[in-house]
Amino acid sequence: MLIITDLHVEINHKEVLKGINLSVPEHEVHALFGPNGSGKSVLISVIMGYPEFQITKGEIVFNGIRINNLTIDERVRMGISAMEQRPPVIKGVTLGKLAEMMVRTAKRNVNDITGLSGQYDMNRFLGRDINDGFSGGEIKKAEMFSLILARPSFVILDEPDSGVDPEHLKTIGKMINQSLNIRDIPGERCKQWDKNSGIIATHSAAVLDYVHTDKAHIMIDGQIKCTGNTVVLMTQIRDYGYEYCIKCQKTLNDDNKN
Ligand SMILES: Nc1ncnc2c1ncn2[C@@H]1O[C@H](COP(=O)(O)OP(=O)(O)O)[C@@H](O)[C@H]1O
Ligand SMILES: [Mg+2]
Repeated sequence: MLIITDLHVEINHKEVLKGINLSVPEHEVHALFGPNGSGKSVLISVIMGYPEFQITKGEIVFNGIRINNLTIDERVRMGISAMEQRPPVIKGVTLGKLAEMMVRTAKRNVNDITGLSGQYDMNRFLGRDINDGFSGGEIKKAEMFSLILARPSFVILDEPDSGVDPEHLKTIGKMINQSLNIRDIPGERCKQWDKNSGIIATHSAAVLDYVHTDKAHIMIDGQIKCTGNTVVLMTQIRDYGYEYCIKCQKTLNDDNKN
């Protein structure tokens, strides 16, 4: 579904992504781990098409189409949606208005807004400007609310667990699972293992107590250094920290030299 090959990205003439190879097949969700500053958010911004980052080499292919030069809007229409790490406050636009736009674009029934806001206790936020005065957990909840309504087929979440208290974290986990669930789409096949695809970037891995991922990657200094079973890698990071991954990679490199 998403195939990234030898992706190099610069910002202000400084290379921040240094040859990323990443493939997320249909119906798989991958976790993206990495210490602060390793390039997770830049990678997500580049997949979404934010113009401040320059691809100097490599390509991003989504559903067989090279999307390197497509606009954000075109990528969204292809089914890719992202939740940013630090979503902006948007004065003058209420969450309710945004929800209506999402519902119209996704050709959903407007009653879905009422249903979903009831389910997640969002009614009191619908009349407020987007993210204006929302707490950390409320911002992530509002973003997930809009994302579920937009019904993307490829869900990208940048640190959905950062700045979120344990109570909100549980709800965010539930919302993420709902955004990945394609079983409520009329006409879709109804197989238990069918789900949307996606990438969840998380420094702390806290949200992965609630969301299953099929595979995980560890990103360090603009490169994916390690790929494997999420639980194995998560335990390694929780027990030994990212320092261990850096050392482990060095050991591998040293082994290769011998
Ligand atoms: N807009 C920007 N201008 C300059 N440097 C940036 C910008 N965005 C990210 N970077 C740099 O790119 C590197 C990777 O950042 P980022 O992707 O945010 O890391 P992560 O999300 O893994 O914490 C960092 O060194 C960061 O300072
Ligand atoms: Mg980040």
